[in-house]
Amino acid sequence: MLPEICLIISLHAGKLRWEPECQYQLRHLQDSARISALLPPRLEGHWISTGCEVRPGPEFLTRSYLFYSNRLFKAYQFYYWDPSCREPSHSLVIKGKLRLRQASWITRGATEADYHLHKVGIVFHSQRAMQEISARINQTSGGGCSGFLPAGRAWAPGVLYELLSAKEGQDCTAALGFTMHELSLVRVEKHYQSPLHTQLSGRRAVEELYLGDIHTKWSERLHYRPTGYQRPLQSAVHHTHPCPVCGIIYRADEHHPPILPGKAELPMQLSGRWVSVQCEIRPAVLFLTRYFIFHGTNRTWEGYYYHYSDPLCKQPTFTIYASGHYTKGVPSSKVRGGTELAFKVTHAQVTPMDQVSATMLNASEPGSCGETGSWSIGMEQDITLTNGCLALGIKLPHTEYELFKMEQDTKERSLLFIGERPTDGSSPDRPDKRPTSYQAPLVQCAGAPGVFSRHISPRYLGKEGNDRNEALRPLPMAFLLSLMALQFLRWD
Ligand SMILES: *[C@@H]1O[C@H](CO)[C@@H](O)[C@H](O)[C@H]1NC(C)=O
Ligand SMILES: *[C@@H]1O[C@H](CO)[C@@H](O)[C@H](O)[C@H]1NC(C)=O
Ligand SMILES: *[C@@H]1O[C@H](CO)[C@@H](O)[C@H](O)[C@H]1NC(C)=O
Repeated sequence: MLPEICLIISLHAGKLRWEPECQYQLRHLQDSARISALLPPRLEGHWISTGCEVRPGPEFLTRSYLFYSNRLFKAYQFYYWDPSCREPSHSLVIKGKLRLRQASWITRGATEADYHLHKVGIVFHSQRAMQEISARINQTSGGGCSGFLPAGRAWAPGVLYELLSAKEGQDCTAALGFTMHELSLVRVEKHYQSPLHTQLSGRRAVEELYLGDIHTKWSERLHYRPTGYQRPLQSAVHHTHPCPVCGIIYRADEHHPPILPGKAELPMQLSGRWVSVQCEIRPAVLFLTRYFIFHGTNRTWEGYYYHYSDPLCKQPTFTIYASGHYTKGVPSSKVRGGTELAFKVTHAQVTPMDQVSATMLNASEPGSCGETGSWSIGMEQDITLTNGCLALGIKLPHTEYELFKMEQDTKERSLLFIGERPTDGSSPDRPDKRPTSYQAPLVQCAGAPGVFSRHISPRYLGKEGNDRNEALRPLPMAFLLSLMALQFLRWD
């Protein structure tokens, strides 16, 4: 077992019983021997989405990016009307050149890059798409872009119009909220499968390409320089198996956009335990893993947010436990496929896990964050009585307006997508700040009693030490995170 897990277990022994599969999941996640970052990143090759992606707005899309050895790239972005990526509206073909620069000093583990766009072309997949988009471009550009699409031109399939041409000094992409700033922050990870999995499938590594995040606010997205990532693309050669959509996206082009297979809609069954599948990153810049328990019977929840200082989540900084209740979900009218809920946080506890955090909390204004002067590494304090923790930007009680979505992955595990945090570090504490896109999914590690996901071989579980029934005190919470990040940055 890794030292930090031992630490957490010994610190919190007896407090909370993890379901064996939740333990397994966390341990698997912590086993960094299975993940390595390629530094500098090797981008050459073909990278594809592994599902329908949701960007703030919302926008529904799939991506297929090709990077060549001479630094040129060709990127396809396929846009859809619907959250299942089955009704294409238009496709972009983006060509340009990318140059990797130095390691980012803001986002640990990322590499900064410069890019230059040569051309962006658009193909409309219906008359309606052509009308709506050209009207938007016409409005935004004040006529400056009227030449890109001759007035009165009827829609015909397969025609490519040039939105941007570096040679001709034309750029009509702004109306679409289009930018490729995602290329300015890059990380490539190689994930090695478990020995058992390798043995069964004969497949080994999965390669993932992380590109910069998109600002959650439309008005900021053209200027925003990413400090976090979007959902990763996977190598077309080294992707997870099975991946029914990978081949479809791999073969697609601007004239043949990928149409993803239909999926049954999953009802929102929150009850159970959910855990991160990877070390997650928040813009500005926090690394964390999350573990949530939802009690459907009385609509109460508990969340553990384990924070780290490094991109593999190996060096813990502090842990937050929060709890409260939540409302019944209603289908979102703004983000099809999503469910709107409100979460109230009434109770929180903080555990500093390193010297920097302990010292910072210890030095906080009396009465503003637990008991001043009594913080020490590994000791948990309740911050409910001080109405939160000013130093961490936590205010209690606190309500957040949320967007959730559930999906099943190809291994029939249930995934829970929780709304993206506002990129500016604020909290979605008003209905109009409700997210329109999602964070990386959590996986259900235990459902309502008796319901177990089927993906883990009992044999392998046993080998991993499932016989140890340590109770392990979980992690973290979402809403304060970005605020905390700011605090911590300032403090460093
Ligand atoms: C764009 O605007 C011009 C002038 O306002 C108009 O003549 C033209 O039809 C518009 N084009 C489209 C495609 O809407
Ligand atoms: C809600 O239900 C769960 C499990 O049924 C229980 O553990 C918890 O104490 C309850 N919470 C409240 C506030 O009643
Ligand atoms: C916290 O403050 C108290 C009182 O000032 C001090 O005795 C203690 O060593 C401090 N602990 C840490 C971890 O800084």
